[in-house]
Amino acid sequence: EKDGYDTFMEKEIHDQPHAVADTLLGRTDAAGQLILDELRIDPEELKSITKIIVLACGTSAYAGMVAKYAIEHWCRIPVEVELSHEFRYRDPIIDPNTLVVSISQSGETMDTLMAVRYAKEQGARTVSICNTNGSTIPRESDAVLYTHAGPEIAVASTKAFLAQITAAYLLGLYLAQLNKKLYSQAIKDILAQLAEIPAKIQTVLDQADQVKELARSMKDTGSVLFLGRNVGYPVALEGALKLKELAYIHAEGFAAGELKHGPIALIDEGQPVFVVVPSPMDRHSLHAKVVSNIQEVRARGAKTIVVAEQGDEDVKQYAETTFYVPETLPMLMPLLTTVPLQIFALELASAKGYDVDQPRNLAKSVTVE
Ligand code: BG6
Repeated sequence: EKDGYDTFMEKEIHDQPHAVADTLLGRTDAAGQLILDELRIDPEELKSITKIIVLACGTSAYAGMVAKYAIEHWCRIPVEVELSHEFRYRDPIIDPNTLVVSISQSGETMDTLMAVRYAKEQGARTVSICNTNGSTIPRESDAVLYTHAGPEIAVASTKAFLAQITAAYLLGLYLAQLNKKLYSQAIKDILAQLAEIPAKIQTVLDQADQVKELARSMKDTGSVLFLGRNVGYPVALEGALKLKELAYIHAEGFAAGELKHGPIALIDEGQPVFVVVPSPMDRHSLHAKVVSNIQEVRARGAKTIVVAEQGDEDVKQYAETTFYVPETLPMLMPLLTTVPLQIFALELASAKGYDVDQPRNLAKSVTVE
């Protein structure tokens, strides 16, 4: 059942082209219109949504952060992302025009379930993005958008994450289509780019050896930092989380712009820093800003490991190591840039002899609050 891989985690990382492709499958009609009939919320009702709150925990919450960037950009609807356990115990402002989107691989995470119940009680519409058919959270939600990653066995999430991001993009595009916030041609163009993602993930997987070699050489590292910006920020957080979960190494992800406001104090000789570099095509020119962050940490002795888009030659001169991913739309980059970080954590943990499928102290789905 591991398909010849040593671990479920490795298999699941390699399943990712399918996880994304299957999540996209059957969700457009011949004319290239998105059809999300399974959502089961009256489109008229969805049109009246004035605010979205995304609720999730762990890796799923980082998928939620990507969702925020995409939905706000494409739909112009304000999106908040909150950890389910924090949401439930403040006084969140919810009304019937609030759409609560929960994201959960298992559909059983108690913190998220309680938050969804609470949101429903307060009158919100609830949509569940979930990987497990018939599980509790989708059953208790008004609507569900399933991710089709297939069963995820390894405790730490990989393929479900990419599938959740994919589903969030579909939801964002669907809302943009309903509210006419994007031209239908623009939606088609984004969908066409999404359709190319599975093959591009495969390209990244085919270059895994370079990442693995670096991971083995860093087996005795005590701490690793991850920087990212815009949609690269949740990717940095996820890269750090994978390393904590699998390799028990202290790791932290930061928004690159925050570096000068504190974290730069951590940098000294030999500190490894991963930098998820925005596309050179990013409309806010964040690329140049992140390149100068790389220079800043490097000047203070950091060992810089860069994940950048193919063709981005600027970054190479400042990086100890550069991993390239194929070109795509800036918004879709997380589906590619996450992959080398997953492979890195997996290989480093394996080099330390750890059980990557069942890391210590963790459970696949936490069904207590
Ligand atoms: C944790 C898992 O307990 O729950 C993580 O170890 C996961 O991998 C998180 O991201 C949230 O789980 P779910 O099923 O709600 O996505």
